[in-house]
Amino acid sequence: MPIKMRKILVTCALPYANGPIHIGHMLEHIQADIWVRYQRMRGHEVWFVSSDDAHGTAIMLRSKDLNISEKQLIRNIHKEHKTDFMNFNISYDNYHTTHSIENLFLLRKIFSSLNNKNLLNKKTIFQFYDNKEKIFLPDRFIKGTCPICYTENQYGDTCEICSSIYEPKDLINSVSAISGTPPILKKTEHLYFNLPIFSDMLNKWIYSGVLDNSVINKTEEWLQLGLKKWCISRDAPYFGFKIPNFSNKYFYVWMDAPIGYISAFKNLCLKNKNINFNEFWNKNSKCELYHFIGKDIIYFHTLFWPSILEASSLRKPNGIFVHGHLTINGLKLSKSRGFLIKASDWLKHFDSDSLRYYYASKLTSNINDIEMNLDHFMYKINSDIVNKLINLASRSASFINKYFNGYLSDTLDDYDLYDSFVNASKKIEGFFENREFSLIVRSSMKLLDVANKYINEKKPWTIQENVKRNNTLHMICTMGINLFRIVMTFLTPIIPILSKKIELFLMSNLIWNDISKPLLSQKITDFPRLYERISSDKILQLLKLSK
Ligand code: MSP
Ligand code: ZN
Repeated sequence: MPIKMRKILVTCALPYANGPIHIGHMLEHIQADIWVRYQRMRGHEVWFVSSDDAHGTAIMLRSKDLNISEKQLIRNIHKEHKTDFMNFNISYDNYHTTHSIENLFLLRKIFSSLNNKNLLNKKTIFQFYDNKEKIFLPDRFIKGTCPICYTENQYGDTCEICSSIYEPKDLINSVSAISGTPPILKKTEHLYFNLPIFSDMLNKWIYSGVLDNSVINKTEEWLQLGLKKWCISRDAPYFGFKIPNFSNKYFYVWMDAPIGYISAFKNLCLKNKNINFNEFWNKNSKCELYHFIGKDIIYFHTLFWPSILEASSLRKPNGIFVHGHLTINGLKLSKSRGFLIKASDWLKHFDSDSLRYYYASKLTSNINDIEMNLDHFMYKINSDIVNKLINLASRSASFINKYFNGYLSDTLDDYDLYDSFVNASKKIEGFFENREFSLIVRSSMKLLDVANKYINEKKPWTIQENVKRNNTLHMICTMGINLFRIVMTFLTPIIPILSKKIELFLMSNLIWNDISKPLLSQKITDFPRLYERISSDKILQLLKLSK
């Protein structure tokens, strides 16, 4: 039955352009890419975009450290990020930057809508200021002792030890993280967005099927506390876009960052004239929009972003897909307090499919953190990919090549078994759609167990030499190849590189709607070397590199 073609725009959160992509970031891009590849396989029109988040204090300070201009820094990082995503086969249609003409244009447009609707007003406040470096300090750049549990060396907004949230002024013995001197309070004027006006809209929107329950719960908590006006300006010196008619003030990076979703798509439309920008972004758009994000930035995506879109008469997302954070061997990803495995370092030891597969085996639709245990990783790849998946194909292929010139038989040995594999696709489709990737991996492995058991029971290797060329052996091995082909089709969005190699081996493409028809009477190639077992040596090498 033909399914209705959907038009879908998918985004990942925009990584900051002040450091390398690590495998924690990669969790998100891999999750989104698996979903995107699946939707494309089902014949839908999918556009997948993201961008570097190129503004803010951290980027300004980083470029100072490196003694290069901000523009040079974000250019270098953009190149690195793009390479990392390409090497993990993240199939972006466009990977842009927020420091772009499209983003500036859209920001200005949205800014004037907010102005026209009287949603912005100015307010004078006192804010921490580093008198030595002559710079106002973002919360993250103030350090001191937690006022609740008295742990030293905590950030200005939250305590990492007791998780309390507080105001920078409540920190005890606060110092500027930039100069180490105690900050002073200084008067300054800022621009505020009237977020509370959107409370009613948000209170309806969060229940409209766009959020999973755990994300609704978090958002409800904030809504119940009551929304505050949101400060969207920052003082110079700052790296970002200037606010028109407000001297020495810049847009806060979180104001132009989500607009980066739109501008990355706008830039794609300039390159591909077949895509209609307005069709995707008009208020009543029938196209679907999904944002993949981590749980630390829910706030911005379930409160600010829908309000900004509403205020600008643009469409809102159909779903905010939130994942938990990656931990490695029980530790947070952090340069100072644990491991930080860079995406590029991963590839010096392992292939990209192995990480994609491992993540898929752990990913669900909920926001629980995801623990990567490197011994379990090794076990999982060796037992699933090498022992179950590759083994099924290689043992079947060896007979086909040795006795039947590489040709598959013209009938299958067991059509009922074949059909049961085809029918599993219904369940798998649901799992893909709902981002229950761990269930896809689990179901696929169960199918492989069944297929391997089938071969084990048929014992093709015991068929006597003089009758090797008989029909039974031919049909058994053709069955093996066909069951393998079905599971491989299910796994294609997860392990695209292996999948490409399998297509060459089968001399036939892995297409979702083709699995109902078995591959018969046609040629396959010799079985290639597809995958190497992972050794504990390699794990040790990787850990050494990441310490
Ligand atoms: N620039 C903002 C996002 C702006 S979106 C309009 C930002 N950047 S980030 O580089 O800090 O994070 C980018 C994404 O990576 C976020 O969704 C974040 O949750 C995710 N991750 C960063 N570290 C992560 C892990 N350790 N594990 C999983 N995801 C992680 O936030
Ligand atoms: Zn504390």
